[in-house]
Amino acid sequence: MAVRKDTLFEQFLAPVFKFLINQPELERFYRRIDWEQERDRLRDPNLVYPDYYQSQNFHGIEGGYLTTGAAVSYDPVTQYALPPNETWVRQGLVDAIQGNPRRILDLGCGTGSTTILLKMAFPQAEVIGLDLSPYMLIVAETKARQAGLQIEFRHGQAEQTGFADSSFDLVSASLLFHETPSEIAQAVLQEGFRLLRTGGEILILDGNQKTLRHTEWLTNIFEEPYIQEYAAGSLDGWMGRAGFGAIRTDEWWWLHQISRGVKPILDTQPDAPPGTGVQLNPVDWSHGLPELA
Ligand SMILES: C[S@@+](CC[C@H](N)C(=O)[O-])C[C@H]1O[C@@H](n2cnc3c(N)ncnc32)[C@H](O)[C@@H]1O
Repeated sequence: MAVRKDTLFEQFLAPVFKFLINQPELERFYRRIDWEQERDRLRDPNLVYPDYYQSQNFHGIEGGYLTTGAAVSYDPVTQYALPPNETWVRQGLVDAIQGNPRRILDLGCGTGSTTILLKMAFPQAEVIGLDLSPYMLIVAETKARQAGLQIEFRHGQAEQTGFADSSFDLVSASLLFHETPSEIAQAVLQEGFRLLRTGGEILILDGNQKTLRHTEWLTNIFEEPYIQEYAAGSLDGWMGRAGFGAIRTDEWWWLHQISRGVKPILDTQPDAPPGTGVQLNPVDWSHGLPELA
């Protein structure tokens, strides 16, 4: 893994993480996988990586998420980046779900930690995790297999997934939006809206935008190219612009936030172009989702 030596992350945090991480265990995991073969199996050969993604060294790692190093080190480092406890933080997203989804899409699923919790909470649901990095997906698949869970992991772009309109009951994204420019965050929310059926929910776990605005030093340390743009924005506003109703964002353990929105019933004219409908009362499906036709 090529790592820039001049970054704050490499100078101050990497030595701490090296101390905390079980390196021999990491190397054993790395050697167990034929990365090239697995990458070629999972990779969509027609996918063109967007510039905002492949041009950045996320977390100071050259090549960012398109490297085996990023994929292998992600979980060991992330457990310390989600205080007070990684599982509690992720479980907050799962617990905020109000319906009983039968088809779930986890956007920017990475190594699948939240995707796995979703499948555990809704074992009957078809759960799909989608990510731009085939290396992250390799780790996600390995973890799901070890947990005995049937989850499909798909190489793809969150803002242009290729799935059919209204084909999901729940779309989720954890820790994705602080890693994208705000116009991409907006495009991802629009794609989520398109993918959800009426009454479907979107759930987003990410950094607390209010807290991040006052902790620039923190965002500098972690080498996140778009996090200040994310902090300055408003997820609620982006969700509203995408068409969601019943929008609500709650602070979660001070550093994080959980946002929820619902695809409302639209009173569309028969000939109106998609997305031009008049929004009626946002629907609250807190007592369960209606039966699918
Ligand atoms: C910080 S990680 C979060 C991973 C996982 N959701 C989690 O909670 O640990 C961000 C992930 O988003 C992926 N990603 C970034 N932009 C994306 C996009 N436009 N479409 C799909 N995945 C994307 C990256 O490859 C990376 O795996």
